[in-house]
Amino acid sequence: MQSLAGQRFETFWSQLAPTNNIKKLAIVGSERPQNFGCLRNKHLCHFISNAKDALREAKSLGFVISTILNNYNDIIILELTKSKETNLGLLALAEEYLSDGGKIIINGDNQVGVKSFLKNISKLWPADITVIKKKGRIAVYKKKTKLFGHCRKYQDFQINRDGYYTRSDMFSPKEVDKGSQKLTSAFSTKLFGEVADLGAGWGYLSKEALRLNDKITKITLFENNYAAYLASKKNIADKRATFRWASLEDLKNLKLRFNHVICNPPFHSGHPKDIGLLRSFIFQSCRLINRQGNVWMVFVSGVYSESELKEYFDNVKVLYKDSQYFVCRLMKPKAKRYEYD
Ligand SMILES: C[S@@+](CC[C@H](N)C(=O)[O-])C[C@H]1O[C@@H](n2cnc3c(N)ncnc32)[C@H](O)[C@@H]1O
Repeated sequence: MQSLAGQRFETFWSQLAPTNNIKKLAIVGSERPQNFGCLRNKHLCHFISNAKDALREAKSLGFVISTILNNYNDIIILELTKSKETNLGLLALAEEYLSDGGKIIINGDNQVGVKSFLKNISKLWPADITVIKKKGRIAVYKKKTKLFGHCRKYQDFQINRDGYYTRSDMFSPKEVDKGSQKLTSAFSTKLFGEVADLGAGWGYLSKEALRLNDKITKITLFENNYAAYLASKKNIADKRATFRWASLEDLKNLKLRFNHVICNPPFHSGHPKDIGLLRSFIFQSCRLINRQGNVWMVFVSGVYSESELKEYFDNVKVLYKDSQYFVCRLMKPKAKRYEYD
């Protein structure tokens, strides 16, 4: 189903699309290329994102794809993310790569604070058009001389309060996630051989795994978010670590099997809860361990239940539980799941 941002954009574009001389157009901030299905000449439209799976989909729709905006465009569409810092960083970048006479279109849901975001930028840069629709807003800005250069810093990696390189467009950028911390205590001294870190983010679990388990021979970090993948490379300087920018989709045909999988699985894609995504992580973990292998996972309490895990594993052991999290060691993948590959 088309998202609200997509419906809003489509209505706006059919009624108010800037018509004069659009040669090149870029989209930043969005992980939903299907929101821009109404754009014609997709071969002239760049879809720019960190997310490998979103880029794959954008490519299949006919967009030109990239992880970075570094070309001039006549129109740049910024779809707001939930992070204000990310939005300001992207606005600064968009401003930099807007051709003379070009326009920036900002589209955002109320849920991510579009009203206050537009209000704040209008102090420096009043919008030409603002449309209120579908629980959000869309606004158009004509090119001015650079006003938001001071926000370019949000595109850089910063060292967070726990000493790791991160950026606002990745999971738990300001500090180590509490659930991940619980997981590292559970697997300390228990890991050996070849380990996979699924959805490795900026690398906290792997860095700790390597520090706390000297019997690990190799650890492979798999991560969908390109910026997080780059940050993890900056955070981990250990020859045993291998880094893969990959989504779960890319792992479907992976033949490698591991002694251990470590994982703090995501359960949101964008804003809505996405239990399907969480289940895919459990399923892939179960597939990627060898027959004697172990999966070490942490869950936010109430999102997924211990009993559901028994659909995938014969042996489910809860190692830690409090009101917020539970940490499990999962063994003996169910035969039918295991044979799936
Ligand atoms: C809850 S975070 C855990 C991050 C890190 N392991 C930690 O403990 O701090 C889940 C991670 O999974 C990544 N992710 C989400 N969907 C993915 C997918 N389809 N394939 C691979 N990684 C994905 C997210 O980008 C995020 O970094």
